[in-house]
Amino acid sequence: TPKSTQFLIGMSQANLVEPWRIEMNKEIKAEIQNYSDVKVIFADAAQSSEKQVSDVERLVRLGIDLLIISPNEVTLLAPIVNKVYKTIPVIVLDRDDPDFNHTLYIGPDNELIGRQAGQFVVDLLAGKEGNVVQVEGLSESPPVIGRSRGFLQVISQHPNIHVVDTIVADWLRDKAEDQLKQRFVTYPQIDVIFAHNDDMALGAYLAASKLRIKNIKFIGIDGLPGSEGGVQLVNNGVLAGTFTYPTGGKDAIQYAMKILNKEDKIPKKVTLQSRIITR
Ligand code: FRU
Repeated sequence: TPKSTQFLIGMSQANLVEPWRIEMNKEIKAEIQNYSDVKVIFADAAQSSEKQVSDVERLVRLGIDLLIISPNEVTLLAPIVNKVYKTIPVIVLDRDDPDFNHTLYIGPDNELIGRQAGQFVVDLLAGKEGNVVQVEGLSESPPVIGRSRGFLQVISQHPNIHVVDTIVADWLRDKAEDQLKQRFVTYPQIDVIFAHNDDMALGAYLAASKLRIKNIKFIGIDGLPGSEGGVQLVNNGVLAGTFTYPTGGKDAIQYAMKILNKEDKIPKKVTLQSRIITR
């Protein structure tokens, strides 16, 4: 008889609408192939934090040995994460929160990416006066807070660069496009749009091109592969640049196996490296 699966990992994903999350799950599935003694059960919260809470409860009832969670809204998920952490190890990906108790957090440094995006705007404007719009993801989400903070730190040192508007498009392309179509009517000439992910940057680009507004440079974050991924958008000239935002899927499985095999020296936090991508 074949050797039975020794470990069961539960993976709670915030949604599978966003390409970045599809990529994360793909990475997890690929990495798990390297181990014979483990299985992963995936749950998709479909953008609902309430569903994500019940997904985690269901995974625990199924007897998982370790939980990986990429949370939707951290504040709504902290209670269940902390409850689960009392019984099994928990790895949190992408969105951390001071109220989370977890074994390990894995993700890139959002404030640093925000500062680099700010510097990129400064470089693109090359000393000229400029108007900038920021398109943010889901409000209150830690990456939004970090990215905005870093971005504004740099921009605020350049009095000739004006952030004329900040809109919230919840990480979604269509929301970015719809809102910008309405707002462009009232804007002065915009020089740069910094969107907190490539999908919203693409939405912003589509809004501008449908309204025949020219000479805006678009910046995103994620830098995914694939036909509508950030790398291709930079290559096509849709985006002036993007920043890679590693999903941590592969790292999560590697650390999960170390934790389950009771290896010592597991860090509390792993910071993933991001890179700028320009043509
Ligand atoms: C996916 C996503 C990514 C972004 C990350 C930040 O949900 O919006 O595009 O980089 O989340 O949490």
